[in-house]
Amino acid sequence: MRGDDVTFGRAHDADDAVPAELLREEILARQAGVYALRGTDKYRESFAELPGVEAVRDTYLRPGGAYLITGGLGAIGLETARHFAAGAPGAHLYLLGRTALPPETEWDAVAADPQRPAAARVTAVREITALGATVHPVAADVADEMALAAVLDTVRAAHGRVDGIVHAAGVPGDSLIAYREAAGFTAVLRPKLRGAFLLHHLTRDDRPDFILHMSSVAAVFPALGQADYAAANYYLDHLARSLDTPEHRVVGVEWVAWREVGMAVAAGVNEDLAFRSLRTRDGLGLIDAALRGGRPVLFAGEINYDSDLMSVLPTYDVALSADIEDKIATGLAALAERTEQNLARVREAVESTEVRLTGQPDGEYTDTERMVGRCLAHALGHPEIDVHADFRDLGADSIMALTIGNSISSCVGRQFDAVDLMSERTVVAVARLIETKYDGDDDGGDDDAWLDELLTMPGE
Ligand SMILES: NC(=O)c1ccc[n+]([C@@H]2O[C@H](COP(=O)([O-])OP(=O)(O)OC[C@H]3O[C@@H](n4cnc5c(N)ncnc54)[C@H](OP(=O)(O)O)[C@@H]3O)[C@@H](O)[C@H]2O)c1
Repeated sequence: MRGDDVTFGRAHDADDAVPAELLREEILARQAGVYALRGTDKYRESFAELPGVEAVRDTYLRPGGAYLITGGLGAIGLETARHFAAGAPGAHLYLLGRTALPPETEWDAVAADPQRPAAARVTAVREITALGATVHPVAADVADEMALAAVLDTVRAAHGRVDGIVHAAGVPGDSLIAYREAAGFTAVLRPKLRGAFLLHHLTRDDRPDFILHMSSVAAVFPALGQADYAAANYYLDHLARSLDTPEHRVVGVEWVAWREVGMAVAAGVNEDLAFRSLRTRDGLGLIDAALRGGRPVLFAGEINYDSDLMSVLPTYDVALSADIEDKIATGLAALAERTEQNLARVREAVESTEVRLTGQPDGEYTDTERMVGRCLAHALGHPEIDVHADFRDLGADSIMALTIGNSISSCVGRQFDAVDLMSERTVVAVARLIETKYDGDDDGGDDDAWLDELLTMPGE
């Protein structure tokens, strides 16, 4: 993305044969993307679909091998452990997370009570053990150098070697940078970025067969509010690209949402969106494909051509293959008519929503305020809304903002930026904005248009 004087998101990898004048032109060029310059040839990284990943080895697990899974007591960590237990008879699985499991003497009681937070984890550990693995739950912070070094020493002392590592520790990001404290941002970066760095640093003499990074779609197509999470995952991919060798695989898998377990389920974003969400068995199959294959970074997901959300993809600074662009164009043409019908339905539903506005001493509200209030009430279900209340206090998060923004779009008859909801945040302020920014056809003369473009929710 760019402003008049600023170019963002352009990266070059140039060899010594690139003529200076060409290099200068490339550095000053405005089109974003990742480029490799080789002499006078130029290559641009692009996103393309692969039917599968060619296997260059049959197996990546050793019978009786010792494997460390960070975030191993989390949802995907446990599924991966189960998969490794089935694939490597007698494996030793070190499952690391900050939260300790209760002592084993309490496991019967814990497993019997589904209300206990550890119940599902204890049950999973027992199932994995029943597959023939030895499970070692470890309470440690992957980003704490001394704690991680001690864990690795334990593994080496018991098994002579760390055979492989899965780095699945992570926490999701949750809001726009403008609303984040530095500490919150760091908390998201820390497990992935510092954790991955330490895992490589502390095992540089072990040379495990593989280190698998559980990266994310956010490294390629980050959603609004994911700056920290995207950066953390991008670092995982960068490390994989830099360190991967055939003998010591370092692989980043950029997961789309897992449908059945994990943080996408917890956040309620495990449905088919721009990408189809992944069933667990398919995710595990992709772990096999990634570790049997020869690619350092792999995007694990399928574009959902049945959804209008695929329209977000061309809004990113990622070059899409011609094939993907064609399929998106065809799909969108078919969806355009449906969208028109849907908008009419949304408008009808919003118009029939009843809400009592409060907050103005004289009890007078403009038509625009009433419309915004109805859109909010339609999404949030409140019978009464204070026109000065912050949307976030009323229960609107950034996902909900998309729904409300969509309702407002259908009522004003033009595209409303959901990001405006998160910056204005009250009925009165949004109504005022609609009457200025969204009133009439003329949106020229806006000096901050480039900033709006930068902040616009992808897919709008
Ligand atoms: N689920 C998805 O759809 C999805 C999609 C894309 C990418 N991913 C990535 O896949 C990985 C696993 O996700 P998940 O869905 O299984 O999430 P999850 O169930 O929340 O598991 C993550 C685990 O990481 C642990 N953790 C967090 N910070 C840690 C730290 N500093 N040190 C050690 N452990 C730490 C957490 O345990 P404690 O809090 O006890 O430490 C938690 O059990 C994550 O890295 C995530 O970003 C997941």
